[in-house]
Parts: sequence; C-alpha cells; structure tokens
Amino acid sequence: MPWNPECYHKFQRERFEPFEDLLGLVKARENLRVIDLGCGTGELTCRLANHLPASDVTGIDLSPEMLEKAAKQTRPELRFELKSIQEADGEWDLVFSCAALHWVDDHPSLVPKLFSMVSPGGQIAVQLPSNDKHAAHLLLAKLAGEEPYSSALGGWVRVSPVLSIAAYAELLYAHGGKEITVFERVYPHVLEDTDAMADWMSGAAMVPYFDRLPEELHDSFMKSYREQLRLRWPLGPVFYPFRRTLFAATRSP
Ligand SMILES: C[S@@+](CC[C@H](N)C(=O)[O-])C[C@H]1O[C@@H](n2cnc3c(N)ncnc32)[C@H](O)[C@@H]1O
Repeated sequence: MPWNPECYHKFQRERFEPFEDLLGLVKARENLRVIDLGCGTGELTCRLANHLPASDVTGIDLSPEMLEKAAKQTRPELRFELKSIQEADGEWDLVFSCAALHWVDDHPSLVPKLFSMVSPGGQIAVQLPSNDKHAAHLLLAKLAGEEPYSSALGGWVRVSPVLSIAAYAELLYAHGGKEITVFERVYPHVLEDTDAMADWMSGAAMVPYFDRLPEELHDSFMKSYREQLRLRWPLGPVFYPFRRTLFAATRSP
C-alpha cells in the first residue's frame, strides 16, 4: 500500500501544530533557497514558502501519490520533484524537513550529510516523530512478529532510526552547527476511540508493513491491529501523547 494522501490528511489539524513549532525555529529572511525533504502533499511546503518572502522553495518526496497532490500548488517560486531524501544534494539556505526523516535510516550519517548541504549563514530545521515507544507502535511491532504476518514479512519488523535529543545536538555540534536548538515535545491528542488511532497509524506507521505484506493479508492485519488496540484501550476517548523531536542549527557565515 503506497502513501495515501486522504488517509494522511485525516489528522491534518494534529499535524499542523508541530509544523508551526518548527516554523518558529526558522530564521525568516528574504531570498532564501529552500529544500523541503519529504514534502508529502506540499500543503505545508506551500505554507513554508508563504512564510519566507521572495524565497525559492523545492519540495522533494519519493511518493508519486503524494506528489500528485503537491503538483497542484506549483508556482514559479515553488516546485516539487520526485526524489529521495538520500539523493538530496546541492547548497541551500534552509534545509527543512517536517515529519519525514524518521523514514530514513542511519541518522549518524544522514544528519551530517544534510547539514553539509546548508550554505554559509544558512540553517537546518527538522521535526520528526520520536513516538516509537508508545504502546500503539509496540502493539504494531508485536502483531508483525506473529503468524501469518511474521513469515510473510520474512521476520522484518520496523526499527526506528530516531536518536536521542542529546545525540542530535552532539551531531550538529560535531559538524560545525551553531545556535543549536534541540528539544522533544509531547503533543497531547485526544482521539475519539481506538479506531481513530488505527486510522492514524494506517496513514503513516503501517505504510511499510502494508508495502511488504501480500494484498490478501492487508484486511486481516488491519482487523487484528484494531482488536489489539481495543483490548489495550477498551473505552474511548483515547489519550494519545505523541512525542516529536525538533532540531535546528545554523552554519557560520
Ligand atoms: C508523514 S509524511 C510528511 C509530509 C509533509 N512533510 C507533512 O509534514 O505533511 C512523510 C513523507 O515522507 C516521504 N518519504 C518517506 N521516505 C522518504 C524518502 N526516503 N525520501 C523522500 N521522501 C520520503 C513520504 O513519501 C511522505 O510523503
């Protein structure tokens, strides 16, 4: 199952808040060359471009489904390209990424590589979920380890590449980062019931499982996951404390 823009956008309100926090870390200047890594449907890339007058903004993503939506927002100073974060290159005044880097492995190599793309006087600003220890994720991994899913997945279970906040600060400092800001914030969401939580997960964390599972197992995987969540939280509403890491740093002029 590829990324599904409709499913992802169901929880748009909850996803705007961390974006606004990330935007708060960005040093707004005019005429910036900006790259948004994992831009998704481009809605937030568009907001970013609106926030930075006279800037030239490029969003990259590897999902054709997400980019099809993003393409509708194209204008002379805002464009979208089919490209992976691993392939990103060039020099940018702002390297920006909202809720995407947790899909890329090996952050001890990735973060320095992305920071090396920041121009002198430029900035990197990133937000990424650090919620992998929440029961909703643990139950998903547990289910993936059960049959028939474990055999169908060849034993694969997703391991989050997200580092501690101190590790991001260390990496940025070690590679010349200045004005380093790193923090984790819990976003306190209240969901109607566990089905809403399953819907949330199906729009993001479950995507790589659906990608790997044969089509005929998708329904039963989703059904079993809903049951597991219901057992854990039998009554609605469900409080969903969602941890996210935000970091930013500048490069000396
Ligand atoms: C959770 S969405 C975030 C989209 C957007 N930044 C937002 O905040 O609304 C994650 C996006 O990262 C993209 N993505 C995942 N892995 C990627 C990779 N290796 N290279 C480029 N994009 C990737 C997915 O296609 C998806 O559109």
